Amino acid sequence: MVTENEVMNALSQVMDPEIGRSLVELKMIHDLKIAKGGKVSFTLALTVPGCPLRDQMAEDARRALMALPGVKQVDIAFRAMSEEERGFAFAGRQSPQPRLNQFNQATHFIAVMSGKGGVGKSSVTALLACALARQGKKVGILDADITGPSIPRLFGLPPGGLRGDGNGMLPAVTCSGIKVISINLLVPAEDVPVIWRGPMISGAITQFWNDTLWGKLDVLLVDMPPGTSDAALTVLSALPVGGVLMVTMPQGLSSMVVRKAVHLANELKKPVLGVVENMSYYTCPDSGKPHYIFGPGHAEEIAVMAKTEVLIRLPIDPRITELCDAGKVEDVRLAEVDALAEKLLIAAPIQIELK
Ligand SMILES: Nc1ncnc2c1ncn2[C@@H]1O[C@H](COP(=O)(O)OP(=O)(O)OP(=O)(O)O)[C@@H](O)[C@H]1O
Ligand SMILES: [Mg+2]
Repeated sequence: MVTENEVMNALSQVMDPEIGRSLVELKMIHDLKIAKGGKVSFTLALTVPGCPLRDQMAEDARRALMALPGVKQVDIAFRAMSEEERGFAFAGRQSPQPRLNQFNQATHFIAVMSGKGGVGKSSVTALLACALARQGKKVGILDADITGPSIPRLFGLPPGGLRGDGNGMLPAVTCSGIKVISINLLVPAEDVPVIWRGPMISGAITQFWNDTLWGKLDVLLVDMPPGTSDAALTVLSALPVGGVLMVTMPQGLSSMVVRKAVHLANELKKPVLGVVENMSYYTCPDSGKPHYIFGPGHAEEIAVMAKTEVLIRLPIDPRITELCDAGKVEDVRLAEVDALAEKLLIAAPIQIELK
């Protein structure tokens, strides 16, 4: 019969692909049982809940064990590590979080998120970056939407031509000096799709974080894709994001999905810095009267649930669509977003210094 030592030896060759250390070294193997008849069972304690690489690690572990003589079956259960276990796993080691390149420094690191698609995350990210740049801040945008990147189009940045060398990638720079990194700066044409599964997407995001020469920034914004799975998990668990700005729209359906995103942020212990309700109303150009086209909205409820406040409400404004489509987001001026930029930096409770 296979021994516990042999099993642990085999598992010590199986890596967590994101952290680059073995499942044994990370103390992820628990409740190991070896039954007569060659059945091996254990629980894999994940370093983050819902780890996107869970199935890959389980598959690698299964393959390694099935290669041992006498192993006929491998049963793997999953659970998330407790805070204590996570601390123990990484004790005495370098932080598992990737660090910005040694030349980089960022003070505020904020993810613009929603969970829901099409609510205006990218527009709010870009408008906020412009407002911050007008206030004299040094701003960067990490476009974490790998399959639907919008940031280069909003700023009129062409595809391809991103420069770099062995020391890292140089972000593209917009007219107002905002530094941008996005997959659409790497593909040869704007509409070339990236057809990747979750782990590849997570890998690209961490590479954008690790390998970009941002220099010294006051604010780094992350434009999140819709959803609460791979990309969102990677940004919130593998990068040292200080807080999340939640974007919503008035419809009940949006608010239901946004609440999921709030739960995810809570789960991963990232504070929600505030809520932006986009497309709240439309101001009639003739009468100047606001019309609440999508109803009264649920931003307040989301803010209460997230223990934060509604920072701004943005109107539906056809000029936003027009200028964004034309790559001229830097020409959009909205007093609400200027106010948001100020409030956010004051409200942001977590500031990170990176070296
Ligand atoms: N307040 C607004 N008024 C008018 N148009 C807007 C407004 N906000 C966003 N839009 C437009 O709505 C569309 C969707 O916005 P955007 O791409 O920013 O959403 P998103 O949440 O990032 O979408 P995705 O989930 O696909 O990433 C864009 O065409 C944008 O120009
Ligand atoms: Mg977007």
